[in-house]
Amino acid sequence: MRNLNQDTITQAVLARLATTPDARLKEIMTSLVQHLHAFAREVKLTEPEWMQGIEFLTATGQMCDAKRQEFILLSDTLGLSMLTVAMNNDKPLGCTEPTVFGPFFLEDAPRFELGADVGGGAKGEPCMVSGSIKALDGTPIPNALINVWQADADGNYDVQYAHLAKPQARGIMNADASGNYHFKTILAEAYPIPSDGPVGAMLKATKNHPWRPAHLHFMIDAPGYERLITHVFRDHDQYLDSDVVFGVRQSLVADWIKQPDGTYSLHYDFVLNPKTGT
Ligand code: BEZ
Ligand code: FE
Repeated sequence: MRNLNQDTITQAVLARLATTPDARLKEIMTSLVQHLHAFAREVKLTEPEWMQGIEFLTATGQMCDAKRQEFILLSDTLGLSMLTVAMNNDKPLGCTEPTVFGPFFLEDAPRFELGADVGGGAKGEPCMVSGSIKALDGTPIPNALINVWQADADGNYDVQYAHLAKPQARGIMNADASGNYHFKTILAEAYPIPSDGPVGAMLKATKNHPWRPAHLHFMIDAPGYERLITHVFRDHDQYLDSDVVFGVRQSLVADWIKQPDGTYSLHYDFVLNPKTGT
């Protein structure tokens, strides 16, 4: 294995993977090497460009900490996150569609009773959210566990503020025995994803904006059903057709209605997919 050249190196690298005991790892590594080498050949990658790529990935890693996941943002903005969601969630027609998880979920959000205000003082117009959680045949699913989280009127999630005393605009509650839920929160507004790092530089270099259309995140769990990770989007948002992370699905767009008293209301019914097999 000497004197490898541009015509023989790919095969040499692939041969070195032959000893990989884990079959799935071997499959993934083999495909990765093939595509990576094909990519370099296709664009005729120069050495300075290779170095620029290394520097970009280095900066992406250096931007990551407990509160900032620049690699997930990179995956999101390259459409890889949404592709992975789409490939792995082939639910029957009629089920609520999933979308990207995003980097702003918190494992231990505060717990609330139905009807409570999950806003926790976050800045925004008041909004009442209600709906139901059902099975495909319309049967109510009792007591599902609902996680919600959202940005405030300034486009920030609570975790993006350095000195907040407690979580805001997020919470966990159970739907009632008839599968219904309702809570108070603030109106979701469009917001830009964090763009002060390498992903922001990439968006700028490609003349793309960093905005997501207004949405409210939901994660819903019920025994016997697949976990649903999704959002509800606000109709008429100017970014619905250019979401920076490609997450919009028409079935998730809803009317957030302005009431005579100036507050807003959103009604959305979720349909969960039963777990199959084990
Ligand atoms: C979000 O909706 O919270 C989100 C998703 C992907 C990237 C950044 C934010
Ligand atoms: Fe979000």
